[in-house]
Amino acid sequence: MEHQTDNLQTVGDLVRWGASRLNAAGMHFGHGTDNAADEARLLVFHALSLDFEVPEYFYRSRVTPAEREAAIGLIHRRIEERCPAAYLTGEAWFAGLRFEVSPDVLVPRSPIAEMIANEFAPWCKPDSVKKALDIGTGSGCLAIAIATHLDVNVDAVDISPAALAVARRNVHAHDLQDRVELIESDLYAALGERKYDLIVSNPPYVSARSMASLPDEYAHEPSVALAAGDDGLGLIHGILNTALDYLRPHGVLVVEAGESAGAVVTAYPDVPFEWVEFEHGGGGVFVIRATDLSQCRSTIAGRCA
Ligand SMILES: C[S@@+](CC[C@H](N)C(=O)[O-])C[C@H]1O[C@@H](n2cnc3c(N)ncnc32)[C@H](O)[C@@H]1O
Repeated sequence: MEHQTDNLQTVGDLVRWGASRLNAAGMHFGHGTDNAADEARLLVFHALSLDFEVPEYFYRSRVTPAEREAAIGLIHRRIEERCPAAYLTGEAWFAGLRFEVSPDVLVPRSPIAEMIANEFAPWCKPDSVKKALDIGTGSGCLAIAIATHLDVNVDAVDISPAALAVARRNVHAHDLQDRVELIESDLYAALGERKYDLIVSNPPYVSARSMASLPDEYAHEPSVALAAGDDGLGLIHGILNTALDYLRPHGVLVVEAGESAGAVVTAYPDVPFEWVEFEHGGGGVFVIRATDLSQCRSTIAGRCA
């Protein structure tokens, strides 16, 4: 292997070689990139301490032996450990922002990023959101992106102290200590009388059957961030059932149900969820207004009982 990689001389050579190796190894891509070329570029550029936006001629620039060794080492680790690239580099990009990540938090990838960029239009009127809640904040990516894109204060809860430690470092890195409050809480349990204009959640939603067949990469993520009981709805029932106690009358609830979207519709056939259509990919996110939730309160409570 060594003598073959000695021929890799340029940044472009390393990216092309890395993409070929990732493809040949049959890797799964689902943690920030969706193809071998982008994944190889991410790893090679990280090893070379390069920003993503570089002039085209950089690809023709020669690398030093130490740089080549570092880039090749990262590609090898990605293949041998089946570890998401973000855990190898310690960082991920989400909603245009950089986040520290570790295996204590899910790798940020929620399509809710697109809703944040659109300031939750058409569901939220401009300036109608002053206080938001992020349930299951993980790295803090949704809460921090919301506070960055909208002029709001955000409470961010998680049941995992280890995840909250990562979120705390990200809140500091984005200088949002005054606007994002991190709270250790089982769903709403520690929130007392607080009320919100917007509640957002990307909760665990993977069913027991899916957990058993996920690609190896997902085993590096915390199971508390993925597993949600037999039908994948364990957390979503709880979020829906109590949301009205924490939403203001004009408030809006946004929940990513991912692959369990069908199970949500089956469990709550009479609840008028609006399923979001995304321009940049992804799906399985529903929106429901507090006014609609209050119409369905007894139906939801009956389903959660
Ligand atoms: C799918 S991850 C989402 C992380 C982050 N919001 C994102 O979009 O990348 C779900 C998060 O919910 C947290 N969680 C799991 N059960 C919870 C509970 N009962 N109450 C609060 N947070 C919970 C997990 O620790 C994890 O950080």
